[in-house]
Amino acid sequence: MNLKAENITFAYNKKRQILKDVSLTLPSDKIIGLIGDSGSGKSTLCKIMAGFISHYSGNVTIDGNKIPDKDYYPVQLIFQHPEKTMNPKWKMEKVLNESWTPTQDLKDTFGLKDNWLTRWPSELSGGELQRFSILRALNPKTKFIIADEISTMLDAVTQVQIWEALIKHCRANNIGILAVSHDPELLEVVCDDILYFKDINKL
Ligand SMILES: Nc1ncnc2c1ncn2[C@@H]1O[C@H](COP(=O)(O)OP(=O)(O)OP(=O)(O)O)[C@@H](O)[C@H]1O
Ligand SMILES: [Mg+2]
Repeated sequence: MNLKAENITFAYNKKRQILKDVSLTLPSDKIIGLIGDSGSGKSTLCKIMAGFISHYSGNVTIDGNKIPDKDYYPVQLIFQHPEKTMNPKWKMEKVLNESWTPTQDLKDTFGLKDNWLTRWPSELSGGELQRFSILRALNPKTKFIIADEISTMLDAVTQVQIWEALIKHCRANNIGILAVSHDPELLEVVCDDILYFKDINKL
């Protein structure tokens, strides 16, 4: 399978265009890195590819087909700040099981501890919360993961643990990953190919 963004052009307002004719292909069996300047539009592209923004021109397709947005969206975006995507009034067990119920095996792969499940989001660290937001995104209907600076706020050991777990799962299940990061060393280790945002944005 291929997730394709083709000739994506977008502006939040008339004053400034953010994306011009951006095209990229993400195959299911690849991890593609995306690196570029702060404020250049990477997260905007991620949101478009994951269906969060719809008023763009161009096409986002899977194997040539438009992605239906009524059913489960097969392109899942994981953000830098997991706490922003969780209901603070939900215990972690409810947060985790909102989309699907991960197996014990997968919970173990991500180092999820049982005693975290009875806590509120505010009672966990950023790294602990990020494990939940990744697991939540791995619903079996997910075909592609857009990882937008998912490990930026984590220490080196946690960063390695989380990426190893995510890569293991995605390689085994044929899920493609677009990995956005400011860290070229991380992308060198994790990715099959690296794209430079300035090369794909024709502004
Ligand atoms: N909702 C919005 N309304 C208006 N402008 C926005 C909105 N979201 C982002 N922008 C602007 O669009 C530009 C691109 O932002 P974006 O978040 O895509 O950059 P980025 O490449 O992800 O940056 P970073 O590396 O810092 O995360 C920025 O100038 C930002 O201020
Ligand atoms: Mg960003």
